[in-house]
Amino acid sequence: MVLVTEENLPRREHVLILLTGATGGLGTLVAERLAGQGDVVLGTRAPERVRVPLPVRPLDFDVPDTLAGAFAGVDVLLLVSAGYGEDDTVIARHGAAVDAAERAGVRHIVYTSLTGDGDHLPYALPHRWTERRLREGSADWTILRNGLYAELLGQLAAPAPDGRLTAPLGRGRLAAVARADLADAAAAVVLAPAAHAGRTYELVGEEALGGEDLARAHGPGVVYESEPLALARERLTASGAAPFQVPMVLGTCSAVAAGFLDRTGGDLRALLGRAPRSAMDVITGLSG
Ligand SMILES: NC(=O)c1ccc[n+]([C@@H]2O[C@H](COP(=O)([O-])OP(=O)(O)OC[C@H]3O[C@@H](n4cnc5c(N)ncnc54)[C@H](OP(=O)(O)O)[C@@H]3O)[C@@H](O)[C@H]2O)c1
Repeated sequence: MVLVTEENLPRREHVLILLTGATGGLGTLVAERLAGQGDVVLGTRAPERVRVPLPVRPLDFDVPDTLAGAFAGVDVLLLVSAGYGEDDTVIARHGAAVDAAERAGVRHIVYTSLTGDGDHLPYALPHRWTERRLREGSADWTILRNGLYAELLGQLAAPAPDGRLTAPLGRGRLAAVARADLADAAAAVVLAPAAHAGRTYELVGEEALGGEDLARAHGPGVVYESEPLALARERLTASGAAPFQVPMVLGTCSAVAAGFLDRTGGDLRALLGRAPRSAMDVITGLSG
């Protein structure tokens, strides 16, 4: 692969966009969409794992000293939430990122948050903290309240080889959204940030899916069995999951089962300018 550096990019009168989380699932998709669209740099803890040929700046929210250099000259920051950790860890990360962006003179921060219907989720608090920090801050902001990924639902409710699809979702459904659509929406916003300043967008899917829907879509012979949360907790704990991951997963399933995450609609279609991808196609592998 040809090594792309900021020095050998043609200079144009563009704003400089930096996106964080560049090696993650969402960040990689956004980077693919921004490639060739102007002055874009990728921020990551792991430059060697970047898969999109754009200039890279190393950064780590856990090491705030890395952020001043990374954000120098940046006009628009796409702050991809770094949500794996206890609340105090995630708040410290996002706080360090916003502080550094403001000090560097970043004009507009776009933040990937969590759907408003996710307030019952164990990881909602750092998102709401970050939203409040942005609203009270000095930079323009846009908040993308992302719904839960179709890819995540597919993992939570995957059929076993014997055809049983076991998950603690009860009869609840999730307005799941394709991660690729969230990437399209984020790219559209960072490329025209002024049109989205001060806006908070609800980006959930247009179809709510539950265990029985998934079993049907996976084909004949697949049967959904709802599992008690206590059993799922035992199974997850025994799998070696990190302590913070257990309530994350269980809380997500519990909120789906209790019917808090099935509201469809929102702003996704308007932001995309087209119909969203089918979440079911993403889960069953028909769409990426
Ligand atoms: N809506 C949903 O269903 C859903 C599901 C899972 C997660 N999320 C949230 O959405 C975010 C993006 O989703 P994803 O699918 O891209 O997750 P992912 O593939 O697990 O990527 C996580 C991202 O967090 C970044 N990160 C972690 N610690 C960081 C740190 N100390 N400093 C800077 N960046 C850090 C990583 O960036 P580098 O390794 O490149 O530095 C990585 O891109 C996640 O981080 C999480 O907060 C949402």
